[in-house]
This record gives sequence, C-alpha cells and structure tokens, in this order.
Amino acid sequence: MDLTSLRPLAEKLFADIRALSFDGVGVTRASYGAGETAAADYLRAFALSEGLRVADDRAANLVFGQPDADPAAPAAWTGSHIDSVPQGGNFDGLAGVVAGLLCLVARRREPHGARLPLEVVAFRGEESAWFGKAYMGSGALFGKIGESDLALKQRSTGQTMAECMREAGADVDAIRGRQWLFDPARVKAYLELHIEQGPVMVARQLPLAVVSGIRGNVRHNRIVCHGDAQHSGVVPRWLRHDAMFSVADLIMRLDEHWRVLLERGTDLVVTTGIVTTDPDEHSISRIPGSVRFSFEARSKSEDTLEAFYQLMRAECKAIERERGVRFEFDRRLLSEPATMDERLCGLLAQACRDVGAAFETIPSGAGHDASLFANAGIPSGMLFVRNQNGSHNPHEAMEMDDFMLGVQALSDVFERLD
Ligand code: GLV
Ligand code: MN
Ligand code: MN
Repeated sequence: MDLTSLRPLAEKLFADIRALSFDGVGVTRASYGAGETAAADYLRAFALSEGLRVADDRAANLVFGQPDADPAAPAAWTGSHIDSVPQGGNFDGLAGVVAGLLCLVARRREPHGARLPLEVVAFRGEESAWFGKAYMGSGALFGKIGESDLALKQRSTGQTMAECMREAGADVDAIRGRQWLFDPARVKAYLELHIEQGPVMVARQLPLAVVSGIRGNVRHNRIVCHGDAQHSGVVPRWLRHDAMFSVADLIMRLDEHWRVLLERGTDLVVTTGIVTTDPDEHSISRIPGSVRFSFEARSKSEDTLEAFYQLMRAECKAIERERGVRFEFDRRLLSEPATMDERLCGLLAQACRDVGAAFETIPSGAGHDASLFANAGIPSGMLFVRNQNGSHNPHEAMEMDDFMLGVQALSDVFERLD
C-alpha cells in the first residue's frame, strides 16, 4: 500500500492540532487537561468522518480501529501520546498517533492484504511535566497507577490526578485498584513511531532509525535541603548552614561521579531540572534556609539506576554531616528500562531499507509508552523519525518527507505481521 497521497492529510492534521493547542510560544496539551482533550475531540471527529471505529478505554485513551474488525480480536497495535510538555513542540507523541491514523485511513480507502487488524491508540498523560509522573494513560492499563499517584497535583491548577482523570472520563476506581484494564492477548505487537528527541539522527543524516531499547529513570520531584536562614553579612563561612551551597555541592559531586562512570562505559544521564528558593522569603541578603530541587537519572540499566541513586543518597548524608543541613525526600519514582523485540527490530530495519531510507539502530534516551508494552511481555518496537532542534521545546521541526518515509515503513511492517 502506497501512502504518498496521504501527505496533505498529514499536514492538515498537524496544522489543525497545532492551531488548537498553540499557547503563544509553543503547544500546550496538559495531561488529562484541556489541550489534550481538545486534541482528542478533534481526532475523534476526524476518525469518525473517515468511517473508522473510535472507542474510549477505561483510562480515557482513544482507540481507533477498522469498522469491520472485531475490537476484541488479536491485532497489531500502534500509537503514541497526545499530551505535550508546557510550551512544547507539536510532534512529540502526536507524530505516532497521526502515523497510525494514516495507516488506518489507507486501509479503509484501499483493499489491503494485511493479515492482522490494526488498532491505533492515542494515549493520554505520557508527560511527567504535569503531575510529576509519566505514563499515566498507558500505565493505568497495566495496573501501574495507584493511590499515591492519583493524589499527585497538577502543576498549575492544583487538581489531583484522580480529579483530572475522572473529568476526562476514566474509570478511576478501577485504576486505583491496579487492575489490568485491557487484555494483553489482544496485542500481537505494539509498534510506536516517534520523533527522535536528541541530535544524533540530524548529525548522522538519518531520516529514520530503529530503536533498540528505552532508558528507564529514577526520580524525585521534590527534594528539600533544609539549612539555617540567616543574615548574609554576619555569619562566617564555618558557621553557615547554607542550603544553596549544599545543593550546589551535591550537584557537583554527582557530576564528578557521572563523569567517572561515563569513562567506564556506563550508560547514564543526570538532570536537576528544578532548583528553587522560596520567592516569598528569599533575598539577596539572606542565606537560603531551604532549597527545593528535582533529581532525575536515566539509564538503559536498572542496576546503574539503583547504584547511582544510592550514591546520591550517600553524598546527601556526607553533605548533611559536613555542612549541618538536612535533606528531605518525597516519594521515589522508578520507570523501568525496556528492550525492544528483536524480530520487530528486524522487520523495521527491512522496512527502512525497502523505503530507501538511511537508518541505524540506536537507543532511546527519552521515555515512551512502548516501554510499558515491552515490560508487560508484549513484543514491542519503535521507529524514530529525524527531527531538528531537539524536543520538549517549541522548536521541534520534523520534515514531512521524513515523516512520510516513516509512515510508509510502519505501514509496510503492519502488512507483513501475522
Ligand atoms: C518523555 O517525554 C520523557 O520525559 O522521556
Ligand atoms: Mn515528551
Ligand atoms: Mn513523547
């Protein structure tokens, strides 16, 4: 099946959804919030206008299918997420959903020889930026969202995750009970197309890439370092308990450990994305009495995540002793790394060759819903499409030529799956 003629449709879907979620800087589609729901409503209306089947699952994700296919029958699945980070780009997540819908539209318009029906899922709530927790829509299906997650508060409205999920139509009681909300036997394979969010494919001039695995992460949304708030002019260095210098010390120690681990060939990235003093009390003339910060380490290896985490906690203890401060931690969050299925990687690689795209097999530094499918034992694969200017910013820029190559390769794999 040749999908070239669907390019104008792809352009329209991206443009329309960008317009309805544009925030003046980038796009904002809050997880289980207004922008995400607007995108979901738009996609539902579009799919119905194409004669596709649309259903909401119990976590309020949208599932699209061929109208003549039994929704309970084993199928090939594809999709991605429709939320975004605040002031994000239009393609993170949405590209995979649009790709899946194009494959379905092509099947609806033309006779095809595929043996498996195709189901396309538009996940809600993949981005951790809103509640400090990733994979809410897909995680809920696999019993991974519990009471303490549901109590997390949305960064700008303060509403709980439970309230936002309920408003979107999710079955919060079932989610709280950590039941599996779908039958994994229905998913013969899960494939996700996603933009590459790093700079590697642009640098290596690769329009497509096959993903070998997905980094996991260990996180704290909120660590507070408590020191002693005092007049900045009067306390000599040796009598200070400065929360900011303590946090800076911690970050520099972690940076040094990270450097050494990289020299040994360890896969690791470390980020402190939020560091803040309290604006109600901080001043240029006051030693900070408390500093709040976030911690995130990502790796392909769960052992590395655990070891680096313990190193971080040990350094906090050392700094507490040396500087007379105290670190207080919120709940630790862990997302497991995932390995993509070898057979699906092979099929994706063959499809890249068939469409004439230069490609390599590379790991994913970013997290994706596909990791939940893989870790539930469902054969999973991912195809990356080149994207300029990185991601989680308003400047994401995917060339439509690259995207259509990716969609063609994806569709070709679905025609070969059984
Ligand atoms: C997903 O967007 C991630 O933070 O990896
Ligand atoms: Mn993202
Ligand atoms: Mn994404």
